[in-house]
Amino acid sequence: MNILVTGGMGYIGSHTCIQLIHAGMTPIIFDNLDNSKASVLPRIEKVCGQQPQFIQGDIRNKQRLIEVLKQHDIDAVIHFAGLKAVGESVQKPLEYYDNNVNGTLVLVDAMRECGVKSLVFSSSATVYGDPASVPITESFPTSATNPYGRSKLMVEECLTDFQAANPEWSITLLRYFNPVGSHPSGELGEDPQGIPNNLMPFVSQVAVGRREFLSVFGSDYPTKDGTGVRDYIHVMDLADGHIAALQKVGSQSGLHVYNLGTGNGSSVLEMVAAFEQASGQPVPYQLVERRPGDIAECWADPSKAEKELGWVATKTLEDMTQDTWRWQSGNPNGYPE
Ligand code: NAD
Ligand code: WQD
Repeated sequence: MNILVTGGMGYIGSHTCIQLIHAGMTPIIFDNLDNSKASVLPRIEKVCGQQPQFIQGDIRNKQRLIEVLKQHDIDAVIHFAGLKAVGESVQKPLEYYDNNVNGTLVLVDAMRECGVKSLVFSSSATVYGDPASVPITESFPTSATNPYGRSKLMVEECLTDFQAANPEWSITLLRYFNPVGSHPSGELGEDPQGIPNNLMPFVSQVAVGRREFLSVFGSDYPTKDGTGVRDYIHVMDLADGHIAALQKVGSQSGLHVYNLGTGNGSSVLEMVAAFEQASGQPVPYQLVERRPGDIAECWADPSKAEKELGWVATKTLEDMTQDTWRWQSGNPNGYPE
């Protein structure tokens, strides 16, 4: 199977390409390199003996997409491309709606013109807003609290309407919880530009000496130790979730919605302790005010994916922290230019 992977040069996309190759599929990457570097390609080759084809392009360029879909005889699309920084989305809502919502509509339109009718979309647990309870099942109500989250929700709604009007299509919405970790080889990992927004990249940059201390956002939440609780999932487990989705429902018409999480919640302080243990490095931190818009706790009920896709997350917190450290300590400044 030839799989077009939009955003395949990025964090989750690059790890998914490796698992696609291992599963005997052919990934073709389409990415504008807005938030990634071409030097990820030889790293992919190093760990799986093959370099995926890479086309530099923007998902808002319909003609280019049509050329690529036809030329590579694409069977299905995994759509990672988009912007993902919550804070930035508040400052630049137009850019987020253009990239994430308009970009997806252009992509689906190009697929329709080429007769490619199978799509897997990167959604997010952010679509559950502030959930009334945990664990969260796919039937929980959805809402958004910032433009990034709203863009994901809008895309979900657009794709739901589109699938209803085109029942022969297979559209899968994968709602990721908190992706962390790296390929176990240490060759690939998360390489945020500037100050990391997310917890784990920040913690690992403190451990490697790039930053002085971690600010823990809030210590008065009604959680086990007062700090925020999330469902951290290893990026390799997440990558495997995409393979399972393609294999189980990628050629079954319908709208398929799955949580990809572990079903376990870990606090910020638990993550810091696990990281110190894995790295042998101290992670100094200061307890500060809550970050606006944050929720107290969020974790998945992943049983639908287990039942229907036969997928379950298998990696532990130790795997997540050890693999992150292997990547961070071997590549303290991320990928080379
Ligand atoms: P990433 O930024 O590492 O990867 C996204 C890739 O898309 C980058 O390589 C970027 O260059 C590319 N891109 C952006 N806009 C593009 C455009 N208009 N045309 C072509 N390429 C474009 O992000 P990631 O962490 O790998 O996330 C992948 C997807 O998963 C995103 O859609 C994100 O919203 C979603 N997601 C991520 C998380 C997370 O915490 N990392 C959680 C839930 C959902
Ligand atoms: C995790 C916990 C913070 C940084 C975000 C997006 C969500 C999804 C995943 C894309 C929280 C605390 C963090 C720091 C801290 N992305 N924290 N100090 O907020 O759960 O989700 O990324 O879809 O949409 O909102 O992840 O990693 O930012 O935070 O104390 O420097 O770590 O308060 O409790 P979050 P996160």
